[in-house]
Amino acid sequence: MKITILTLFPQMFSGPFSESIIKRAQEKGLAEINLLNIRDFGIGQHHVVDDKPYGGGIGMIMKVDVIDSALQKVKDTTLPKTQQKIVLLDPRGKQFQQSIARSFSTLNQLILLCAHYEGIDERVRNLVDETISIGDFVVTGGEIPAMLITDAVVRLLTGVLKDGATQHESFNIKGDQDNQVLLEYPQYTTPQQYHGQKVPDILLSGNHKEIDKWRQEKSLELTKLHRPDLLQ
Ligand SMILES: C[S@@+](CC[C@H](N)C(=O)[O-])C[C@H]1O[C@@H](n2cnc3c(N)ncnc32)[C@H](O)[C@@H]1O
Repeated sequence: MKITILTLFPQMFSGPFSESIIKRAQEKGLAEINLLNIRDFGIGQHHVVDDKPYGGGIGMIMKVDVIDSALQKVKDTTLPKTQQKIVLLDPRGKQFQQSIARSFSTLNQLILLCAHYEGIDERVRNLVDETISIGDFVVTGGEIPAMLITDAVVRLLTGVLKDGATQHESFNIKGDQDNQVLLEYPQYTTPQQYHGQKVPDILLSGNHKEIDKWRQEKSLELTKLHRPDLLQ
C-alpha cells in the first residue's frame, strides 16, 4: 500500500516513521510512505503557499491553487475511486476510528493532506474525497493527525504484525451484536504478585477455553464501564 502525505513540514515525520513497526513495514515493502512538500508547488520565486483571509482576521490561509497542483501531481489517474482516497485532516471532519483505519488499509493509495496555519481555503474541500478529524480539539497542523492515521493503518496491513495480533485488540474484539466492538480485556505478565496484587488464577490455569471465556466477559465488563456508547 502507498501512503502519500502532502505537508509543509516533511521533516516532522522522520522520527515516528523511522522507528518500530512503521519502519519495519517500509523495509519489508508492505507500506510505501511518500512525503511531498507542498512548498514545492508554491507560487512565484518565493514559493508562496498561503495568503491573508478575505474579510480580515488573524492568521494565514493555505491557497487552493497550490494544493490543487500538489494533488494533481500525486493522484494516480489509473486507479479506480475505490482504490484511492484523498483525505483532508480537518477538525470539522468525521472522527477517526478503527473502522475507518480498517477501510483505509484496503486502499491502493491513501493521500493525506495536512493543512497548517489558520487552515485552508474552503474550496479545498471540493478537491478531496473525505475529511477526517482526530478529535474535538485543535492541533497546530495536520502532520500529527497524519502520523496517527498512518500508524493505525500500517499496522493493519497483512504481514506487518503477527497473524491474529490485531484481532484481540480494543475496537477489534467482537461483541454479541452485529458490528459491536469491545475494549481489550486486562493483561498481565511477570511477576505473579506485585505489592499484594495477584494475577487472576484463571490466567495461570492453562485452561484456554476458560481463559477465552473470562477474557470475553472482562472485555464486555470494561466496555460497559468505560465506553458504554460502544454497546449502543
Ligand atoms: C490550527 S489548525 C486550523 C484550525 C481551524 N482554524 C479551525 O478553527 O477549525 C491547522 C490545521 O491543523 C489540522 N488539524 C487541527 N486540528 C485537527 C484535528 N482535530 N483533526 C485533524 N486535523 C486537525 C488541520 O489540517 C487544520 O487545518
